Amino acid sequence: MRTMSTTMMMMVMMMLYATAASASRVSRSCGTCDLAACAPLPAGGCAAGAAAALDACGCCAVCSAAEGERCGGGRGGAAGAAARCAPGLECVKSDKDKKSKAGVCVCKANHEVCGSDGVTYRTGCDLKAASGRAVAAGQAEIKIQNKGRCATAPVIVTAPGEVYNVSGAQVYLSCEAIGIPTPVVTWKKLVSGKGRMELLPGDKDNLAIQTRGGPEKHEVTGWVLISPLSEDEAGSYECHAANSKGEASAVGTIHVVDSLDDIPVKKGTS
Ligand SMILES: *[C@@H]1O[C@H](CO)[C@@H](O)[C@H](O)[C@H]1NC(C)=O
Repeated sequence: MRTMSTTMMMMVMMMLYATAASASRVSRSCGTCDLAACAPLPAGGCAAGAAAALDACGCCAVCSAAEGERCGGGRGGAAGAAARCAPGLECVKSDKDKKSKAGVCVCKANHEVCGSDGVTYRTGCDLKAASGRAVAAGQAEIKIQNKGRCATAPVIVTAPGEVYNVSGAQVYLSCEAIGIPTPVVTWKKLVSGKGRMELLPGDKDNLAIQTRGGPEKHEVTGWVLISPLSEDEAGSYECHAANSKGEASAVGTIHVVDSLDDIPVKKGTS
């Protein structure tokens, strides 16, 4: 009994001592706010993306931590220490850092954004940093125009090319386009001599149009499928890609030959 109460007493005393020690540590590090004792902010202002804020004691102005810089931490109370991440950033603690309660500032909006300058940024923080540089250089502030990439006019990635085959064969032309928003692909046949274009598929029962998204993001692939091939289908076909930002087109040709021997050998193949 007696041993037990002695142990209890010691424990209580240790707890009291620990509380008093931690209290005195905080008060010693913060103390009264003496602005003259504060370290000055960097002459060129805080690093891009980091803003001036008050330290954890609410006393000195310090640069908040920028992306990739350390944040948090048990001793954040020390005057002058930047423990907070800049606006738009959050302090992420890794498992290893859990003990020290310190982490690294990472971007909250960790996805691509389109700036008012028409440039796509990797993250909202990259945009913010670029905006800071622009303003420092006397240019306009860059704002987020939309989430995701900036809109771009279509570009033909793979043009339809040339196809040779005999009557009765099964042939196709394909066309790959990219753009943001994803373009819409249509096909037209150039009507020889008349300078006219005929929107496909028209009423031909041996011709089909097929479109599919991909293979890449914001890409689309379109096909003209012909089976069986006849002299009527010989000629030029235009692949047309359009979205809200513009359009692009490329022309492919179908040649109907009398014999497979008449097909020109492609360069580079033996
Ligand atoms: C011609 O079409 C046939 C299918 O009908 C195909 O097997 C063949 O590879 C084609 N020839 C050429 C040169 O494209």
